[in-house]
Amino acid sequence: MSSHTSNEIHTDPKCFTGLDVYAVAGNPISHSKSPLIHHEYAKQANQAMHYGRLQPELDGFADAAKHFFASGGKGMNVTVPFKLDAQAFADQLTMRAQLAGAVNTLWIQDGKIYGDNTDGAGLVRDLLAQGIALHTARILLIGAGGAARGVIGPLLEQSPKCLVIANRSPEKANELVQIFAGLASSKEVALESRSLLNLESPEKTPYSFDLVINATAAGLSDQSPLSPAALINIFTPSSFAYDMVYGKTTAFMQQALQRGARISDGLGMLVEQAADAFLLWRGAELAQFIRPRAVLAQLRS
Ligand code: ATR
Repeated sequence: MSSHTSNEIHTDPKCFTGLDVYAVAGNPISHSKSPLIHHEYAKQANQAMHYGRLQPELDGFADAAKHFFASGGKGMNVTVPFKLDAQAFADQLTMRAQLAGAVNTLWIQDGKIYGDNTDGAGLVRDLLAQGIALHTARILLIGAGGAARGVIGPLLEQSPKCLVIANRSPEKANELVQIFAGLASSKEVALESRSLLNLESPEKTPYSFDLVINATAAGLSDQSPLSPAALINIFTPSSFAYDMVYGKTTAFMQQALQRGARISDGLGMLVEQAADAFLLWRGAELAQFIRPRAVLAQLRS
């Protein structure tokens, strides 16, 4: 045991004889709720598994993942900042991981590493569970980084009326529109890009939105991507504002509350993406046993 670093001690498969070992990799990782969530699913579905935390050096994801799988690890969740490294690490990607441009779930099968992305499906399931109708909805997605890209495909699959991607740097939002244009047109969704500034203008943004999703990193530094003028233009009291981060009422959520909109943080998305990863690893037939909404309620209590 003495050869393990403190970061590996909870994940080295050799320390858990008789249990299948999984881990979440991120940096930092000590705050992660994933071990708690997966241990709950394992209990509910009666699975003999251990799920730990792994904190690779910022330039050390591939080495850490290689070591983990070579030592017998079965699967890994991947969070900030390693989702692109995880995509490069996988031998084979699912279609949705290719479209998402990032991987949050890895597993090994017949010596091959597979990569998938369950974030978008998790977001959609959380929204539906909260009673948000996505079909024919007007959706505004703020941000054009990895977090935003990961959810665009599954949102389009729900056939909303429109999906507007707004970003501080509008050219990045425009790139995403190009990437997803084919899927949008097959689902008959009006997919458009805007700058954040465009959101302030009733000419450039002539209608409010049923659902506004914050996928920017602004909340991490207690900022909101929305100006007061944009707020007035995009929210009505019947809007729903969703922030992908969890654990606090962000500036974005506070602004939405001021406009009378309903709000949600991203804890439900975390629980739901974990459920998909769990079923990928342990078998889809276990879906009947796991209770994501009960785990969510437990985390909130
Ligand atoms: P992630 O993987 O979390 O999406 P990322 O790929 O670095 O991280 O993307 C961060 C996103 O947050 C981008 O859309 C970024 O906008 P830019 O593309 O213009 O940089 C957005 N962002 C970060 N801080 C922001 C802020 N203070 N206001 C508005 N947008 C912000």
